[in-house]
Amino acid sequence: MNNYRKYIPSIILIGIILFYILMGNDIFSSFAGEQDRIFWDKKYQTESYIFGKEPVEFLMEHIDILPRGKALDIAMGEGRNAVFLAKNGFDVDGVDISEVAIKKALMLAQEKEVKIHAFVADLETYTMPRNTYDVIACFYYLQRDLIPKMKEGLKRGGVIIYETYTIENMERGFQGPKNKDYLLKPNELLNFFRDFKVIYYREVVVNNKSAVASLIAQK
Ligand SMILES: C[S@@+](CC[C@H](N)C(=O)[O-])C[C@H]1O[C@@H](n2cnc3c(N)ncnc32)[C@H](O)[C@@H]1O
Repeated sequence: MNNYRKYIPSIILIGIILFYILMGNDIFSSFAGEQDRIFWDKKYQTESYIFGKEPVEFLMEHIDILPRGKALDIAMGEGRNAVFLAKNGFDVDGVDISEVAIKKALMLAQEKEVKIHAFVADLETYTMPRNTYDVIACFYYLQRDLIPKMKEGLKRGGVIIYETYTIENMERGFQGPKNKDYLLKPNELLNFFRDFKVIYYREVVVNNKSAVASLIAQK
């Protein structure tokens, strides 16, 4: 019996390690998701639209070359881009982790007299429907492991329109994320879509306010 007891701490330790290996990733990603949700819900808890009601300029400038049909706005926030897509004839799904953002997006859609299908989901764990969208839009959100899923979500011939901050944004001291996990390296966005037909790519400083990479590419 005593011989057996001396193994108990090791058995517990092995159990903990196995538990972490089998479950750990899910537990930590749902914990991270919860943190994101709390952070963004708080940020959006204002009457005003913190990112405004007008779409991202890059989307506005290129709306005419996007194939009409079903569009998904990834991390759509308060809906400025989703509503613009709907105004331009798209059948729009919009997803965000923040319920507050989703409610504001639906209010904006109502104000602009369009319909969007807006839903709350954590993109860290979301299962993207395959071959579903003619357009996927992603603005100011970077989750590298989501990119293959976005590609799968597009129909053949479907188009991705993507713009977000580069590391230069932080280096220049512009407003935006400071964590490099959320900042693109030079050519990184372009390299993600090497297997697509790249229609447009740039890395620029916009209005001396933000440094971004912008891409349009077709599956
Ligand atoms: C900088 S905002 C951009 C919002 C919008 N794309 C725009 O351009 O106005 C980033 C958005 O990502 C959302 N977000 C952060 N983590 C997320 C997650 N794990 N799943 C879904 N959305 C998330 C936030 O709620 C927030 O709305």
